Amino acid sequence: MENIDWSNIGFGYRKTDYNVRCTYKDGKWGELRKSTDENINLHMAATCLHYGQEVFEGLKAFKGKDGKIRVFRMDENAKRMQKSCEGIMMATLPIEKFEEAVKMVVKLNERFVPPYESGASLYIRPLMIGTSAQVGVKPASEYEFILFVTPVGPYFKGGFQTTPFVIMRQYDRAAPLGTGTFKVGGNYAASLIAGNHALEMGYSAVFYLDAKEKKYIDECGAANFFGIKNNTYVTPDSTSILPSITNKSLMTLAEDMGLKVERRHVPIEELSEFEEAGACGTAAVISPIERIDDFDTKKSYVFSPDGKPGKWCEKLYIKLRGIQYGDEEDKYGWITVID
Ligand code: PLP
Ligand code: COI
Repeated sequence: MENIDWSNIGFGYRKTDYNVRCTYKDGKWGELRKSTDENINLHMAATCLHYGQEVFEGLKAFKGKDGKIRVFRMDENAKRMQKSCEGIMMATLPIEKFEEAVKMVVKLNERFVPPYESGASLYIRPLMIGTSAQVGVKPASEYEFILFVTPVGPYFKGGFQTTPFVIMRQYDRAAPLGTGTFKVGGNYAASLIAGNHALEMGYSAVFYLDAKEKKYIDECGAANFFGIKNNTYVTPDSTSILPSITNKSLMTLAEDMGLKVERRHVPIEELSEFEEAGACGTAAVISPIERIDDFDTKKSYVFSPDGKPGKWCEKLYIKLRGIQYGDEEDKYGWITVID
């Protein structure tokens, strides 16, 4: 096992032993290959460089008390990646091939899966790029699928602790093709200025409003939103947010715990009614929200006056993490054990 201070790693890139690659050429996918090279040799006219033919995913592997390594809902990431690819006319990778690649890259980098006690995990980053040369705006004929891994700790400061977020109407998450539902690098590049501004002011991130009317909560740059009131889990329904696999899982868990679940438009004013709120995602897990400040109206929506995570946030967090690390029964079939 690597000699790393596992409990104090942040969320960043760390070199591991191998990545896994697969090439699409002449209308078909080749075999999976392992590589130790951190670089890619790319044509300067590749479509990923000019027209943003690039998609990525994010999922995690966890080491349990029993020493087993578990991957969470990789079929969902495989499907979402296919959707993203279809949306920007890229070749789609078969689900089985995606799953085979995930198992291979985790196994090859087993010594980088953080130990159970650390609370850290192995982040798996699949990506695909258009590699063949084009100058006209057309899709590439060749694609490269790459999977790398890196051990990670909490995404937002402090992990399972409340932090403040902010709404700023001057920023849209200007997404290519007018939608944020594709997981493409361009969406995130468009969010860098907003994210940086929020960070400078001491916030974890910007919560975007719907770009059309600026009336409803969308999501932040790396996570979905949920609020809890009157024993109900409420999360935005929007065509411009990423369909989060974590959020989907939390809706199932919430329902199982006896909460009502509502997926619908969430007007900003409703923020004042929530007893708890959280940001959720693979990287974020559940990041309980202390408050959301409205930068423009100066209104503050406080969910945690004492700075502590609320009881439903905590229950959901413990349940989700329990399933991921193998402490809780996997009754939904969300886990793949790597052996
Ligand atoms: N929203 C955005 C914009 C994201 O980048 C992510 C992270 O991948 C999420 C939401 C959360 O999605 P998931 O739970 O599938 O990781
Ligand atoms: C994730 O949760 O996997 C994300 O992709 C968030 C961010 C690192 C882009």
